[in-house]
Amino acid sequence: MSQSLESSSQSYETLLVERRERVCIITINRPEKRNALNIKTREEGARVLDELRDEEGVGVVVFTGTGDKAFIAGADIAEFAGRTALTQRDVMTARSLFNAIDTFPKPVIAMINGYCLGGGCELALACDLRIASETASFGQPEINLGIIPGGGGTQRLTRLVGEGKAMEMILTGEIINAHTAYNIGLVNMVVPAADLEARTMEIANRIAEKSPVALRMAKEAVKLASRSNLDEGLRREVDLFALCFSSEDKDEGVKAFLEKRKPVFKGK
Ligand code: COA
Repeated sequence: MSQSLESSSQSYETLLVERRERVCIITINRPEKRNALNIKTREEGARVLDELRDEEGVGVVVFTGTGDKAFIAGADIAEFAGRTALTQRDVMTARSLFNAIDTFPKPVIAMINGYCLGGGCELALACDLRIASETASFGQPEINLGIIPGGGGTQRLTRLVGEGKAMEMILTGEIINAHTAYNIGLVNMVVPAADLEARTMEIANRIAEKSPVALRMAKEAVKLASRSNLDEGLRREVDLFALCFSSEDKDEGVKAFLEKRKPVFKGK
């Protein structure tokens, strides 16, 4: 496979941004702090998503962390010291990286290579797919600091794994291994550490070949399932489904099927 490698047009202090064909990999690059999310990382993460939102050449985004120890070990705890309630509220709401991922109009995959804790777990939860290495571990250990998850942990985790398991993780703060995370539905798959990048890229590339229009509609529709009642969700699904019929990609997809060839989608 020929790969075009390009770095970002902007430069980031805490992130590495690499485009590989239609996939963009964003790597949180603070290994000496186990890739903990400080204010700068959150701000840069939201900014890189702004950069990628309308970039036609990018179909899928992958988040990961530098090194083999941590995906993201949570919020940068050093920044908590001395912070007031109002400042902390501003940090979480001013420009939420997690919400930016959640509402990003293209699929986002978390490639989880180690500790995935606190805000790291919340970032993974905001992604559309979570692929974990066998050596990854997961937890919402905020309770040990006298606080609770504040980046969606109580909401997205509960929707994903159910109230019982979410409550257990959040009240005990205990760390679970990748296989347990898989068994409770927290991650989509667990792969050997040596295969993590290859498997993730394989899945990301496969998704990136699909129609960007259909991917966007699909993401929006699936997310409605946990955010609306069934009648409203079904109604909006029909609207989003019908909207696909206004795209050139739908014409191309149907034509290619009938002509027994691979479709070439343009995102139009
Ligand atoms: N915030 C800030 N710094 C962090 C951090 C975090 N969430 N997690 C790790 N670090 C820093 C450590 O303070 C240490 O810095 P130092 O070298 O300047 O002392 C460095 O990263 C390495 O951490 P260390 O604990 O020595 O690594 P480890 O491999 O033995 O353990 C963890 C890794 C992730 C288990 C452990 O660091 C940890 O429990 N971190 C906090 C996790 C957490 O509570 N997250 C939720 C925050 S709300």
